Amino acid sequence: MSRKNIIAANWKMNMTPSETAEFLDPFLQTFSTRVNVDIVIAPSFISIPKASELITPNPAVSLSAQNMSHEASGAFTGETSAAMLLDVACEYVILGHSERRSLYGEDDAVINKKVHATLAAGMKPILCIGESLEEREGGQLESVLTSQLEGSLAEVSADQMADIVIAYEPVWAIGTGVTASPEQAQDTQKFVRSVLENLYGAEVAAATRIQYGGSVKPGNAAELIGQPDIDGFLVGGASLDPQSFAEIVSAGIGG
Ligand code: 13P
Repeated sequence: MSRKNIIAANWKMNMTPSETAEFLDPFLQTFSTRVNVDIVIAPSFISIPKASELITPNPAVSLSAQNMSHEASGAFTGETSAAMLLDVACEYVILGHSERRSLYGEDDAVINKKVHATLAAGMKPILCIGESLEEREGGQLESVLTSQLEGSLAEVSADQMADIVIAYEPVWAIGTGVTASPEQAQDTQKFVRSVLENLYGAEVAAATRIQYGGSVKPGNAAELIGQPDIDGFLVGGASLDPQSFAEIVSAGIGG
């Protein structure tokens, strides 16, 4: 089963609308025609309209949000709905990022509601999972990842899995400069695929794209993408520079 790589930039709380335009002008010229990899940019909400204006005419690049409310509308101060994201042509929504889990208290139950709201709106979740160092060293890696997957994918059907991307991001590798070794990432992502196989069967598991995230850089991208169960990246820090993100995308094309 061949899976198309998907390389996504998670800009987190960086890049003003003006900086977004400064990044996208050269970057979109580099990738102006469809390439054999899905390229996704996830700016902050305030920069999404500017990004949408520039990205929408470009067939090679898609737009993502970094979060979304599961509520449709109403008295939810500070929240952003699916309809708002659809209005600016968002195709993906990052859900369950470890920063949302640890800093904003999102648990698998709320992430599951967001997954359903995203799918119901016709957008594609990039569902993040990952263990802390303590959990890995304490022998809980497999149980943590299994319960994150089971909880956040509750009542998601096998057919709906076609629209879901999983991002495996070990918490200890995010923003630390410490990357999982290619072997560690491969072993863990193979395990993630086996959990998907238990939940949905071999065909769905083989078709689901699983990204790696955590200190991905131009210098380690090629080796990581060469692993059989790594189908792309969710990139933080190294996605803030157009040249460096373009190099990581190029590794994805070659991988
Ligand atoms: P870094 O690439 O900065 O480690 O961040 C990874 C990440 O959290 C992407 O979502």
